Amino acid sequence: MDARRRRQLADILEHGERFDREVGDRLNRYRNITEDTGEFLSVLIQAVSARRILEVGTSNGYSTLWLADAAARTDGRVTTIEVDARRAAEAAGNFARVGLAGRITLCRGDARELLPKLAKDSFDLVFLDAERTEYLDFWASIEARIKRDGGLLVIDNAISHRDELEELMKRLRDSARYATSLVPVGKGEFLALSRP
Ligand SMILES: C[S@@+](CC[C@H](N)C(=O)[O-])C[C@H]1O[C@@H](n2cnc3c(N)ncnc32)[C@H](O)[C@@H]1O
Repeated sequence: MDARRRRQLADILEHGERFDREVGDRLNRYRNITEDTGEFLSVLIQAVSARRILEVGTSNGYSTLWLADAAARTDGRVTTIEVDARRAAEAAGNFARVGLAGRITLCRGDARELLPKLAKDSFDLVFLDAERTEYLDFWASIEARIKRDGGLLVIDNAISHRDELEELMKRLRDSARYATSLVPVGKGEFLALSRP
């Protein structure tokens, strides 16, 4: 990421962190990934040459911008889903300001309704960062969209909220389909690589 864009993203993150410190209701906060998680996602995308990238949980678009900046190096695109209209509008503004709107398709709505409309077996990398307790409800929809041969799933908060994600992580660890790893970057990133 070039220095100018890194500063723009740092401003978005700082604004989000300031806002989150003052807001009581967790669901109204931005809850952005950490900067080192952004760097980690960027390296993953470039390492596996991911071109079709899906994010569930856009917020104000901070993580999406990391994904899209990396996608620019793989000639890829990011589809991102956000249910909250105010945060989605703010994300759209951030995408335009940073100059990455052309790489991003922002879907406004509930992932539980929108995911079934996306093509199956179609994403090289899926980043899951929405309401953790809902993941199991729409897990079948998510899993069907991860490319069977070499698709990579990344789940945020795997250490900070391990208890909420344990059932899903166990299911993935126990599945012959995936090779998994829990990585202590940021709030903890759980990786599941889909094998044919
Ligand atoms: C932790 S924040 C995402 C932070 C963002 N990935 C970042 O790092 O910049 C979670 C977001 O997921 C959204 N969300 C929660 N449940 C959702 C659902 N079922 N469909 C779409 N978005 C959802 C919330 O509105 C919230 O903005």
